[in-house]
Amino acid sequence: MRADAAARNGGPARADAAARSGGPMRADAAVRDGGGPTRDGGNARAGDGPAMGDGPAMLEVRGLRQHFPVRKDGKKRFLKAVDGVDLEVRAGETFGLVGESGCGKSTLARSVIRIYEPTGGQVLVDGEDITHKPQKQLRPLRKKMQMIFQDPYSSLNSRMSVRDILMEPLIASHVGESAAQREEMAMRALARVGLMADAAGRYPHEFSGGQRQRVGIARALITRPKLVICDEAISALDVSIQAQVVNLLGEFQRELGLAYLFIAHDLSMVRYVSHRVGVMYLGRMAEVCGSEEIYANPLHPYTQALLESIPIPDPAVAAGARAARLEGEVPSPIDPPAGCHFHPRCPKAMSVCRQEEPAMREMGGDHCVRCHLYG
Ligand SMILES: Nc1ncnc2c1ncn2[C@@H]1O[C@H](COP(=O)(O)OP(=O)(O)OP(=O)(O)O)[C@@H](O)[C@H]1O
Ligand code: SF4
Ligand SMILES: [Mg+2]
Repeated sequence: MRADAAARNGGPARADAAARSGGPMRADAAVRDGGGPTRDGGNARAGDGPAMGDGPAMLEVRGLRQHFPVRKDGKKRFLKAVDGVDLEVRAGETFGLVGESGCGKSTLARSVIRIYEPTGGQVLVDGEDITHKPQKQLRPLRKKMQMIFQDPYSSLNSRMSVRDILMEPLIASHVGESAAQREEMAMRALARVGLMADAAGRYPHEFSGGQRQRVGIARALITRPKLVICDEAISALDVSIQAQVVNLLGEFQRELGLAYLFIAHDLSMVRYVSHRVGVMYLGRMAEVCGSEEIYANPLHPYTQALLESIPIPDPAVAAGARAARLEGEVPSPIDPPAGCHFHPRCPKAMSVCRQEEPAMREMGGDHCVRCHLYG
């Protein structure tokens, strides 16, 4: 099991790095080196590799589909927001999910956590199939899976004090034996995310963005979940605050063995926080591999284009670099292109790409890619 996990996470070198640094998700080095991680900033994280995610599977997603009924030209159609996604996240592992706006990242997260009823496929959390569990039966399971959103301002109830915000999930999940015990847990959670005790009586609008996200984290983690989905959880924060929040998430991961599904728009910060990365395009997974591997050896033309569109801080390096090749709009998920969904934008498209949908292929070392160039 350990050997498999090592392979899945980019090889034994990562374990050594993690052991040296003592833990995952260090973002401070990235921030020190020029306002955030960049395409050529790989040396910024020397020794700061994430810990291995070699525990049991906390999330298994198999062939997940989420199709929304919509009307187009007066006809009922289906928008295929998620269209057959497989992924797995293990205890102690961070799986980064990236892709352009509209590719289905949030829909995947919402289907996993059963905000949406999946159209098809399977979702297992901590080994339990929750795909079609009635909401009533899901309630006790909710404490195992929590979500941290991009905008804590809209995800935190503005009319509730922080104390009530933190106690609400405890009450809903029947955690704690009395109000006094739940309040004590709320106060401990506040301290744990670095907020003063007097924050308990204040309201979300009284905090800065970074402090609000700390409240969001405390609320998500207070039930001691096993799986936490971070949907653009740091995207709206200043770069220095991003680093603090990422490091806080990393501390919790080490302490609690949390599995994170970490959703972000681009590959930059994801590199520093993830053990493995999945690149999504138009509702499907295009490529999955260890986070070092995706930078060292991106195989899918879409991944390559995404990487090339990451800004380079040094003007001299930037001048010599190839121009970003990611051109054209993302096609509509109501009428996705035939064959490979990426073919209208792909600089390497062949005639087969317009006709046949490529299958996901294992390329060795737990690197998988969906592209006709590879078989
Ligand atoms: N409830 C819904 N009903 C119909 N279509 C939806 C619904 N939710 C999302 N969509 C559509 O599904 C597709 C995927 O949206 P989603 O929000 O999952 O993308 P995303 O990858 O999270 O994008 P972003 O990076 O902008 O957050 C989009 O075309 C979106 O318009
Ligand atoms: S299958 Fe063809 S069109 Fe699709 S990414 Fe590969 S080369 Fe490009
Ligand atoms: Mg989203």
